[in-house]
Amino acid sequence: MHRHEHHHDQTLAELRDALTAGFWDERYAGTDRVWSGRPNQRLVEQTSDLTPGTALDVACGEGGDAIWLAHQGWQVTAVDVSQVALAKVAAHAEDEGVEDRIRLGFYDALADPRPAGRRTFDLVTVSFLHVPQPDFAEIYRGIAAAVAPGGRLLVTAHHPDDVATGARHDHGPGLMFEPDRVLEALGADQPDGPWVVEVAETPVREQATPDGPLLVRDTVVRLRHN
Ligand SMILES: C[S@@+](CC[C@H](N)C(=O)[O-])C[C@H]1O[C@@H](n2cnc3c(N)ncnc32)[C@H](O)[C@@H]1O
Repeated sequence: MHRHEHHHDQTLAELRDALTAGFWDERYAGTDRVWSGRPNQRLVEQTSDLTPGTALDVACGEGGDAIWLAHQGWQVTAVDVSQVALAKVAAHAEDEGVEDRIRLGFYDALADPRPAGRRTFDLVTVSFLHVPQPDFAEIYRGIAAAVAPGGRLLVTAHHPDDVATGARHDHGPGLMFEPDRVLEALGADQPDGPWVVEVAETPVREQATPDGPLLVRDTVVRLRHN
């Protein structure tokens, strides 16, 4: 695949194929992925001022965020479509002695956008879950429904600018999004709605790559539920 090919001809069905257990189990079972153990920078930035309570990490992957949250005192539920990923989280949680603070669960956003636990979590965090645009609102509303009154939703994603810079040559059209897509899907752009917009930013950070450091832009949205 050429580095600057942007998959403009991908169909919705093909984009959804990249949101299946089969696709991700294979990626996580591959030898190229190594547990870094590090949480996402934006998660650390956006949760350090919060009082630990219950947290739901949606599409947790190998669990860097979930395990970091557990170390901070959060009681974490980590969910993902990949059982291979969940098994890795379980093993790492045990290695780090936080297995008592982490529960694991299967979650397939395409099959049922609502993770378990409606209106129960003090923090719901989702890092880099890029879904096709036609599915976006339903999935992110389903995820947001897990936030307890007074709780927070934190969404971190790759910003569409990264396509132009070539930083994200492997992401299909429409998958990456700006803060507005989240605000619109949840009605958080409306006054008097249930959400208070605490953060809606697009900060840049340096990412290490085999070709040297690359500047990448994130979408970061933090909402508080009334
Ligand atoms: C780019 S990774 C991000 C993982 C983790 N949040 C992180 O920041 O390291 C995207 C994650 O979404 C999960 N995923 C993909 N399709 C999904 C679906 N239909 N339902 C739930 N999770 C899904 C993948 O298994 C993968 O762990």
